[in-house]
Amino acid sequence: MAFWRAPGIYWLMPISIVLHAGAALFTFLHRRSLRGLTITEKVQFGLGVTLPILLFIHISYGRLGYQVNGRPLYYSYFFHMIEEDGFLTVFLIAYSLFLGMVWGHGCIGLHRWLSLKPWYSRFWLACYTLAIMPYITSMMGVVAGYRETSFRKSDSNWLLKLDGQAQWLTTEGTPMSSKEIDQIVMSFAFQLIGAFFASVMLGIIIRLVWLQIEKRRSTIEVRYSDGGNVKVPAGTTILEASRLAGVSHASICGGHGRCSTCRTRILIGADGIATPMDEEAKILHRIGAAPNIRLACQVKLQDDIYIHPMLKHAQPTDGHPRPAYADGEEVDVTLLFADLRGFTQMANQRLPFDVVFILNQYFELMGEAIESSDGYLDKFIGDGIMAIFGMRSGAEIGAKQAISASIKMGQQLEILNLRLQDELDSPLQIGIGLHRGNAIVGNMGYGEAMAVTAIGDTVNVASRLEGACKTLGVQLVVSEGVLDAAGVEFPDVKQKKVEVRGSEKPISVFPVEDAATLKPISIGT
Ligand code: FES
Repeated sequence: MAFWRAPGIYWLMPISIVLHAGAALFTFLHRRSLRGLTITEKVQFGLGVTLPILLFIHISYGRLGYQVNGRPLYYSYFFHMIEEDGFLTVFLIAYSLFLGMVWGHGCIGLHRWLSLKPWYSRFWLACYTLAIMPYITSMMGVVAGYRETSFRKSDSNWLLKLDGQAQWLTTEGTPMSSKEIDQIVMSFAFQLIGAFFASVMLGIIIRLVWLQIEKRRSTIEVRYSDGGNVKVPAGTTILEASRLAGVSHASICGGHGRCSTCRTRILIGADGIATPMDEEAKILHRIGAAPNIRLACQVKLQDDIYIHPMLKHAQPTDGHPRPAYADGEEVDVTLLFADLRGFTQMANQRLPFDVVFILNQYFELMGEAIESSDGYLDKFIGDGIMAIFGMRSGAEIGAKQAISASIKMGQQLEILNLRLQDELDSPLQIGIGLHRGNAIVGNMGYGEAMAVTAIGDTVNVASRLEGACKTLGVQLVVSEGVLDAAGVEFPDVKQKKVEVRGSEKPISVFPVEDAATLKPISIGT
């Protein structure tokens, strides 16, 4: 009791009820359409409406005696009272449900907020444990309180003491019966519930009137890249327009400008919208958004617009910081292509199990070589590998990393051939092509198959240089541009010119017979 009666704590619950109810009413009035609510939002919304009713009964019992009568309703006395009234089982079931609802409502809110933090997924288990522990310990407290009361109820001195401390008194100073207490408490609780419903009704009326006024205002048209369109009153946000139109438009934070998942590409009409305010600009910067991308929940429309919502459905991770190239950017990168020589022919003579076993070992060792050199493993295509270097670190570091990865790949191949010497008729051979230049880098694909990749001439040339390994009879072909950017020389390697399909001029390259024999290079930072 000392804790709950402490200054600051005592008023915490009534204040939070008023704030919650006010915030819920504001959201309700602010949101033009209730369409598009996720299941979690619906549960939280439903609990938000139900909980005040239960909380009013709870505070009426807990606070009224203390506030009005100057006598706290101690838990022990409360247990004693409900046991006398025969409500104990009902109380225990109702209490555990009620506590679960209140706590669940709070945890959902915290989870939605925290899931936007990049570190949250790592500490998820700890947070989950922290979330359920208070509920479990509270229920243990209820059971312990009840057991203590049952144990001591035969102690008449204890009961007398309890009555003296906690029993409510009438104006004449005589003790009230529990029925009289129930009547007073419930009548007070019903007054609070009545006031709550009156505020909800008032909110609904204000909303209806507001909608009527808005209908008379000028309307604007929002057109979507997939062909849909909707007419909405001026001043509506893009996200609200999507909800009114029934268009799937991600909004993990519910339109509070925190998650960035409502990001939208403005195809036509960007001039008619105000520039981003500080908060929106900060989030757009965090996700490396291109200039024509805006947060749908923050843009209020004053003119017709043509848009493309970038995410129909989203995960919290979609709101995490993203590199600048995520939406597409031209970046000076080094591309690496690698391929196993003659593997298709070898695979035809082997059991599928053997083929998968050998390939997975190969991919593992080559993947390690690329990732340990800070390269981005773009994809495995059949027995081929594509990797990108320098997307974040820049051309010089990227080129050095790619050369370093090639050397490691040569070394890993030697390890693999030693491992498989009893299984293979002849050692595995690979060809690696490295080329540097501008490529369009971005998140491309569809649904689950969406990933960062690169396209453009640089990619095609790198792939052809890998093919040139075969004609030149070497393991690695590095274009001159890679060595220039890396500031590295291969003094023992003779420079050559190779014709590459699709390239106007021959490309100057350095063919390396065995990548593992190259001197390791220092990458720096
Ligand atoms: S909905 Fe989260 S930022 Fe717009």
